[in-house]
Amino acid sequence: MVDLSIGTPVDASPSVLQAALAAGADAPGYPTALGTPALRTAAADWLARRLGVTVAEPHGPDPSVIPTVGSKELVALLPTLLGLSGSGTVLIPEVAYPTYEVGAVLAGLAVRRCDVPPDDATGVVLVWLNSPGNPHGRVLTDDELRAWAAWGRARGVPVVADECYITLGWDVEPRSLLHPAVAGDDHSGLLAVHSLSKQSNAAGYRAGLLSGDPALVRQAWEVRRHLGLLVPGPVQDAMTAALADDAHVAEQKERYRARRATLLAAVRAAGLRVDHSEAGLYLWATRDEDCWTTIDWLAGLGIVAAPGTFYGPSGARHVRMALTASDERIAAAAERLAG
Ligand SMILES: Cc1ncc(COP(=O)(O)O)c(C=O)c1O
Repeated sequence: MVDLSIGTPVDASPSVLQAALAAGADAPGYPTALGTPALRTAAADWLARRLGVTVAEPHGPDPSVIPTVGSKELVALLPTLLGLSGSGTVLIPEVAYPTYEVGAVLAGLAVRRCDVPPDDATGVVLVWLNSPGNPHGRVLTDDELRAWAAWGRARGVPVVADECYITLGWDVEPRSLLHPAVAGDDHSGLLAVHSLSKQSNAAGYRAGLLSGDPALVRQAWEVRRHLGLLVPGPVQDAMTAALADDAHVAEQKERYRARRATLLAAVRAAGLRVDHSEAGLYLWATRDEDCWTTIDWLAGLGIVAAPGTFYGPSGARHVRMALTASDERIAAAAERLAG
C-alpha cells in the first residue's frame, strides 16, 4: 500500500532542531505561554526575513507573536480564546481543513463556507483564510487578501490566515496576510498562523506561531496562560534554532519539489486533472467523477488518497494526494499509476 492520504512528514527532523532540543533537555521549571524572549526575537526575525512581515514589538506588553503547541490546537481553540463563544458565524473556505469547523462547533458557533467576502455579514464573528490552502494548494492573490482584510476591518471582524504551508510555493510565491502590501502599516484586526511541522519536519515537536494584531494576540495569550497551553521549554529552544536557519527548510523543500514532479507527471499521465496545487504539499486531482469512485480506482492500484468530501461538499469530485511520502513510496505510486 502506498499511503498518500495523510500529510505527515516522513523525513528526519533536521539536526539543527535535534541538537537544540537535546541542549534544552534540562528543564525543571514551567515554560511560559508567552515564549522565551529568544524565541519571540527569532520568530519576529523569521517573519521579516522570510515573509517580509514586520510585526509590532514582540517584547511589548501586548506581544505581537507567541508560540503555539503546533497550529492545530490554535485553529481549534481560537474562537474560544477570543471569547467569541455563544452565537455567531465563522466564515471558512468552501473546501477547507476540517479543524476550522471543529473550532467553531466547540465554541457553539455556526460556520458558513465562502471564498469571497460576502455582501451579507450578519452574525459573522471571525474569518478563516488558508493560503496556501489545504487540500487544494490554492494561493490567494494580493487583491483577494486585501479584499478580505478591508472587509473584516470595515466590520470589526478579525481575519485570520492559516499560512502553515507558506514556505512551500511551487508556481507562485505565497504572500502573508500580514505583508505591508496587504495589511498596510499595522496589523489591526489581522492574525496569521504558522507552523514548523512541515517546513522543518517537526510535526512531532508540536511547534507553531500566532502573530499579528497585538491586542488580539494578547487576548489569546492571556487565556492560553490559564489553560496551560505551554510549548515545552526544549521545544521552544528547538523552534528558536529552527527559525534562525533557512538551510534545512530549503533542503526539505527540494525533496518535496522532486516528489511533486514525479507524482504530478504520473497523475497527469494516468488521465487525472490536477487543479490549483501551485503550493503546499498536496495534489488536488480529479477524474471528473465522484471522489469515492476515484478512491476505489486508486485503492485497486494500491494507493490510498483522501476523498475530497472530507474537506467540504464542493470537494466531492476531487481527491487529495500528499507529497509527504518517501522517495521510494512516491516512485512506487508513480509506477502503479503507469500501470
Ligand atoms: C491547513 C492546516 N492548518 C493547520 C494544520 C496543523 O498543523 P500543525 O498542528 O502540525 O502545526 C494543518 C496540518 O496538516 C493544516 O493542513
